[in-house]
Amino acid sequence: MLLEIRDIHVHYGKIAALKGITASVDEGEIVTLIGANGAGKTTTLKTISGLRSLTRGSIEFDGRDISKMPGHKRVLAGIGQSPEGRGIFPGMSVEENLLMGAFSRKDDASKELAEAYELFPRLAERKTQAGGTMSGGEQQMLAIGRALMAKPKVLLLDEPSMGLAPMLVQQIFSIIQEINRRGTTVLLVEQNAQQALQIAHRAYVLETGRVVKSAPASRLLDDPEVRAAYLGGELGEAAASPAAAPAPVDAPDPGATVTDAPASGAAPEGSEEDASS
Ligand SMILES: Nc1ncnc2c1ncn2[C@@H]1O[C@H](COP(=O)(O)OP(=O)(O)OP(=O)(O)O)[C@@H](O)[C@H]1O
Ligand SMILES: [Mg+2]
Repeated sequence: MLLEIRDIHVHYGKIAALKGITASVDEGEIVTLIGANGAGKTTTLKTISGLRSLTRGSIEFDGRDISKMPGHKRVLAGIGQSPEGRGIFPGMSVEENLLMGAFSRKDDASKELAEAYELFPRLAERKTQAGGTMSGGEQQMLAIGRALMAKPKVLLLDEPSMGLAPMLVQQIFSIIQEINRRGTTVLLVEQNAQQALQIAHRAYVLETGRVVKSAPASRLLDDPEVRAAYLGGELGEAAASPAAAPAPVDAPDPGATVTDAPASGAAPEGSEEDASS
């Protein structure tokens, strides 16, 4: 296993947010954590990246115990995170923001930069624009692109679809699949359980700081309890509801990239299609 979390307990003051989570991510997988608000999904990711410390348990990454390793060393070891709230440097250009992602590396980052632009053509169009003036969806792309610049072995994603318009949600999920196909292991946290389960290999269901289920993602899509609690209904019902049904994607090919500009040409400056903040 690339990442092994064993019986981790995490507290905020006296409040136990994680009460013994055990989970693993194998190289090449997309694994998703689903669960209600407050279940401990973000805390789990923060603990893996070193932003929260353990009160009990251990985390092993790439054959090493990283339980006490400082966060910046975990980045060097290959743990990439696109932070909550995106964490864009607002005054820096898109390209400078991307290059910040490679800051900890000593080698040349031009290949990764080209790859980020290939995955997110919108970022290539906006290289010189200030990060803070990008739309919510564009900032989300920028945050993911920046995390990839460090060439992580595993990419931790916390609600990448949050606040995005439905069209962009589809595209972000396609991109995550593409990132995985290109060799990056992904640990994905999502409220959008239906779509997360559709792209993931395996999934864990968290409830109040504990894992209550773990299974291949396809099995959880058919699990009546999971359907009732997280997929908005009984078997069949969710599939029939427009909200849960996969929306048509412009480019359903596996190599899909995020281009929400009209096919006829570049979108006019300031025209935004996502409804995020
Ligand atoms: N900084 C904090 N101080 C105190 N309690 C916190 C803090 N951050 C999280 N918690 C608590 O820890 C528990 C787990 O929170 P966490 O953010 O991990 O949940 P989550 O599964 O990511 O939820 P959501 O789906 O709403 O993002 C919650 O009860 C939350 O109130
Ligand atoms: Mg969260």
